[in-house]
Amino acid sequence: MTEAEKTPQAIDASKRNRHASAGNAELFTIGEIPDDAVSRISSGIDELDRVLGGGIVEGSVVLVGGDPGIGKSTLLTQASANIARHGEIVLYASGEESTRQIKLRANRLGAEDSGFYVLSENDMEAIINRAQEMNARLLVIDSIQTMLLNGVTSAPGSVSQVKESAMALLRFAKQTGCSAILVGHVTKEGSLAGPRVLEHMVDAVLYFEGDRQHQYRMLRAVKNRFGSINELGMFEMTGDGMREVKNASEILLAERAEGASGSVVMCAMEGSRPMLTDVQALVATTVFGNPRRMASGIDQGRLALLLAVLEKRAGFRMYDQDVYINIAGGMTLTEPAADLSIVLAVASSGWNVCAGTNLAAMGEIGLSGEVRAIPHAQRRVDECARMGFTRIILPRANLKQIKVPEGAELIGVSSVAEAVMLLKRNKQDG
Ligand code: TYD
Ligand code: MG
Repeated sequence: MTEAEKTPQAIDASKRNRHASAGNAELFTIGEIPDDAVSRISSGIDELDRVLGGGIVEGSVVLVGGDPGIGKSTLLTQASANIARHGEIVLYASGEESTRQIKLRANRLGAEDSGFYVLSENDMEAIINRAQEMNARLLVIDSIQTMLLNGVTSAPGSVSQVKESAMALLRFAKQTGCSAILVGHVTKEGSLAGPRVLEHMVDAVLYFEGDRQHQYRMLRAVKNRFGSINELGMFEMTGDGMREVKNASEILLAERAEGASGSVVMCAMEGSRPMLTDVQALVATTVFGNPRRMASGIDQGRLALLLAVLEKRAGFRMYDQDVYINIAGGMTLTEPAADLSIVLAVASSGWNVCAGTNLAAMGEIGLSGEVRAIPHAQRRVDECARMGFTRIILPRANLKQIKVPEGAELIGVSSVAEAVMLLKRNKQDG
């Protein structure tokens, strides 16, 4: 903000100072604040920009969290390179790696000629001073757990170090308009050791999901002061860096076995983005002891509930059956809209009938076996049809507001029993 914008009207200086922190913050009435749109820097990576709500906001502080080795440094090196190539000054400060190691990664990513600055340092103050001197547009801190602040005596990675370091960075970003991205490692328990305490301080929090065994990585916004949350970006870890996945549906369905039983497609909404997913079930007779219920990609409790509904409301015998659920591609489904596809996948495997290669199913299931309406039905139906899933089972309540895509057949159901009957017909036909 320039000096001229700051004081549109003269307000008694003493009154202002009463509310000033550190002696230099200005006091405004709400109307005095110029409401020009925030200005953003593009990272040159569309998926990252989208998760951020359209790019990195000037003067904002973003936390990027995730398991060690998931690709945080890789993605941020790529972003730094892209931004530097556009003539902006970028400082990549690492407290974890030597400049040589950073160079090795940059070589692999083809980023060695991009001109971003690298500093191997873990003194937060020194880093901030450097960034200020060079008038940086973007400062990357890799990682916040390795940073130390003068005057704070506890060890790096401790809550007070992490908090104080982030505080200093926040002040710097707000005062100078330099954007900052903080890397934070998550511990295995899923809590961001240290950095979780930062979530409320920073402007946006992005988490990497997916495991190192899969090549696909999901970047999810869980907080964003400048955009919508629950946006999802998809990446593929390749030999030369993180590649954007533009057509997620295609990839998540690529290895789908056609004509196999126990597989039903559903369209999940990840933020504003519809994404087709293959829901797989395997039902097998329990050989010994209690039946096993294993859920990967959905909540274990939700699976237990759905199986109970299937048993009670659709007459399925589940008590001597093992049930395994898997969501293809390492995806996680948290939406109740996935219920119907899970139940149908179980029924399909239990009966050993194919649910139909062009079938998709979506709907929330209640305890009385009723199929309830789902949000974003139109977007989901359109995505299914676009990907060739033209036979779509939906909650009856959703049916009337939907414009049927060309060539698609929508089947409304109001109960689990009714939905399962549709499969039974396949069983008799085949
Ligand atoms: P990294 O970005 O260092 O992870 P983080 O900063 O989250 O700890 O990358 C981790 C892994 O990715 C590492 O095991 C090597 C692999 N990798 C690739 O597969 N391709 C690449 O181009 C790069 C740079 C790394
Ligand atoms: Mg790293």
